[in-house]
Amino acid sequence: MTDLLDGVRDHYRATGLTERLKTALKTFGPEELRLTPPQLATLDQFHTRGLAATTELGRLAGITADMSVLDVGSGIGGPARFLAATYGCQVTGVDLSEPFVDAARYLTERTGQSELVSFDTASALELPFDDGHFDLVLLQHVAMNISDRTRLYREIRRVLKSGGKFATFDVVLKSGDPHYPVPWARTPATSFLLTAAATREVIEPAGFRALAWQDDSDSANAWFAQLRASGPPPSPNLGVVMGPDFVQLTANLARNLTEGRLGILTAVFEAASSRT
Ligand SMILES: C[S@@+](CC[C@H](N)C(=O)[O-])C[C@H]1O[C@@H](n2cnc3c(N)ncnc32)[C@H](O)[C@@H]1O
Repeated sequence: MTDLLDGVRDHYRATGLTERLKTALKTFGPEELRLTPPQLATLDQFHTRGLAATTELGRLAGITADMSVLDVGSGIGGPARFLAATYGCQVTGVDLSEPFVDAARYLTERTGQSELVSFDTASALELPFDDGHFDLVLLQHVAMNISDRTRLYREIRRVLKSGGKFATFDVVLKSGDPHYPVPWARTPATSFLLTAAATREVIEPAGFRALAWQDDSDSANAWFAQLRASGPPPSPNLGVVMGPDFVQLTANLARNLTEGRLGILTAVFEAASSRT
């Protein structure tokens, strides 16, 4: 298990990330200038369809200001900051990658949201929270890095209140082997994809009932087609976070989606009253 997590940590190692971000963000003005979450969206929404996907997931999950939200695998914190700014809810993020957590905290200071949004380094398989702590758990483009899905979804159920919600937006296996490298794994060694049906078969027995279930592969394909048509990527972008090969990693994801090897799943579940 530790070996698998180390492989994933290596992939998201991002040495010197906060310093690189400081340099990249000079394009918006001096360090003391407050930034807004949408300004950072080309850089901090580390998943297919960027800000549009986070907006849709927040709407589907029915977020309200009084909710306490946990973002599992929070990356550099874009979804957490955007949802807190949009709904006024408290958001906690956890991520395996220390440089990502450090960067997430820095960016949250830059948007002036440190009172509502916080981040900790932790594994999704061992969440550092009491049972029944959160109203909503989000999981965006993280499950494909996790081999022990039974433990992942049970851990999410454990930290949710009964009747709380779990909203997931992830890459799923469709047909055939994916082309690597992809944004979450440079080789198959750290990629643990399941089909949409197999994902549901693990989530529901962990103590969940489906409220929404969508195949978003077509909108993902349309988004990638629009990106290609609009020329060079906007700056700053996720290349600052993942390095210069990010263009190739993203192109492979787009190819896997177009060829029907991979798909995109959006789903929202309600936590059942008794846990398994
Ligand atoms: C593709 S990024 C998505 C980040 C964020 N959810 C977003 O959409 O912007 C995947 C993230 O999952 C994190 N991750 C992968 N495996 C994890 C685990 N076992 N526990 C916690 N975080 C994990 C990685 O460190 C990385 O930040």
